[in-house]
Amino acid sequence: MNVAILGYASVGKNLEALFKNAGYTTIIGVRSPEKYLKHNVTRIVSAAEDADTVVLAIPYRVCGEVLPNLKMALSKKIVIDVTNPLNGDYSPILFDKEDSAGETLQRILLESMLVKAFNTIFADNMTPEKLDRDGRKLTTFIAGDHDSANEKVLQLAEKIGFSPINTGPLKNSRYPECMAHLNI
Ligand SMILES: NC(=O)c1ccc[n+]([C@@H]2O[C@H](COP(=O)([O-])OP(=O)(O)OC[C@H]3O[C@@H](n4cnc5c(N)ncnc54)[C@H](OP(=O)(O)O)[C@@H]3O)[C@@H](O)[C@H]2O)c1
Repeated sequence: MNVAILGYASVGKNLEALFKNAGYTTIIGVRSPEKYLKHNVTRIVSAAEDADTVVLAIPYRVCGEVLPNLKMALSKKIVIDVTNPLNGDYSPILFDKEDSAGETLQRILLESMLVKAFNTIFADNMTPEKLDRDGRKLTTFIAGDHDSANEKVLQLAEKIGFSPINTGPLKNSRYPECMAHLNI
């Protein structure tokens, strides 16, 4: 199975290493490949088209402009949403109590299976050494409306070194998003 990671900053780079360590083929998608000459990267849309599963590792606040162009490429695919709803100064983007970033992105990508995961863990901790605390792995919370996709992401998260907990429907992404706000 190949995994595309859209965005190549701290989260994209560390998740790429974790996926590679676990034997996955990764495809990195960025908006300006020419900026990353020393790395094997491609355009966001090509990465999205070529992957089985796609990780969103770009700022939440740009998803409204980026994702509508990827609807076809991401159709029927699992999209792992690592985003936290933040303004440019890291202050929280707040939602009505009946909504979240995960649910907002699923409404854009209606044909995809969006699964929230990994968003409560700082990128610095997304390394094999830091995920493993004396044999106890860091927890990641999974939420999504497609049971089979949640299960696949749970297995994938376990393989790359996390201790995943399936929290059920996507509306539960409201809680890990608030946890991330508190962490930050
Ligand atoms: N950092 C953490 O500890 C952490 C932990 C958990 C979750 N998260 C979430 O994970 C996501 C990634 O975080 P990050 O800290 O690695 O990086 P980030 O600063 O949030 O995002 C940087 C990446 O997004 C790309 N990007 C920015 N604007 C874009 C646009 N308009 N179109 C396409 N790509 C765009 C950048 O591309 P260029 O290189 O071209 O600028 C870069 O690859 C965010 O949603 C963040 O909230 C972060």
